Amino acid sequence: MPGYQQTYEMQRAALHAPQQHPGHYDQIAVTPLSGALGARVEGVDLSDLDEAGFAEIERALVDHLVLTFPDQDLEPAAQVAFARRFGPLMDYPFAKTMAEHPEVTELISEPDDVFNFGGSWHSDSPNFDRPPKITMTYCAVAPETGGDTSFANQYLAWETLSDGMRRLLEPMTAMHSTALSYGTDSAVGQTAFKAQTSTPTGIGGNARHDDEFEHPVARTHPDTGRKALYVCDSYAARFAGMTQEESLPLLRYLWAHAILPEFTCRVHWQAGTLTMWDNRCAMHYAHNDYPGQRRVMRRIIVEGEKPV
Ligand SMILES: [Fe+2]
Repeated sequence: MPGYQQTYEMQRAALHAPQQHPGHYDQIAVTPLSGALGARVEGVDLSDLDEAGFAEIERALVDHLVLTFPDQDLEPAAQVAFARRFGPLMDYPFAKTMAEHPEVTELISEPDDVFNFGGSWHSDSPNFDRPPKITMTYCAVAPETGGDTSFANQYLAWETLSDGMRRLLEPMTAMHSTALSYGTDSAVGQTAFKAQTSTPTGIGGNARHDDEFEHPVARTHPDTGRKALYVCDSYAARFAGMTQEESLPLLRYLWAHAILPEFTCRVHWQAGTLTMWDNRCAMHYAHNDYPGQRRVMRRIIVEGEKPV
């Protein structure tokens, strides 16, 4: 029976130029992780960093979207001090924070956990009016094997859509829902989920079950001026002005497109690794492949601007 001809998914090659041609840095050594995004940064102590070194890290983050720093020795207070250099820190009302350091959320996986934290492709907290621009996670305890985090470049996700699809999506906005991600009907809201994870999530602080925030489907990065696809299945409930049923077919296409392997890199953690990423142009996914092992991460989010 004749069907439609399958076409190549990749209409155009995905090119993120800084991965092939990293900038010049005096203080830091930058090694790209893949053709799409991400860089390992060495030769720097994040607890003892002058202004010039900090400026180089800011520039490298704009270029590579994800930076991973192995072999750091950061107590929570030192991590907080480093994070503050990027801007005001945000409260995270959806998980328990450290008693002595309310800016830090401790993400713990115990050996008998079945579910993990962040085990879906997402950008952090689009269910805020001004979602965090940067997330910074420090690994205190790493599993012997597994527990990597994957990242996906959402500039490339946007730029590789067809002209027609980009014209369609350009004026559109989507509704990002707290209930979808953390509500009683959500995956993480189920009793069985909460009973089998050491980092349960829920709706606390000033967040409300029926919070919804409208953001552009393609947001423009304030530093680069480039557009990045900004919808993820953890939070985007529907397009504004449309029903969920009308929205889902196209959302599902975008969710699948956004995480093509050509757009990704993978970060391996060891105790002492700090990784930071730009939520405005990258999504991430915490691999849940280390049953029987322990993993402890300390996470901080830095306030961002209203997406435009
Ligand atoms: Fe996350």
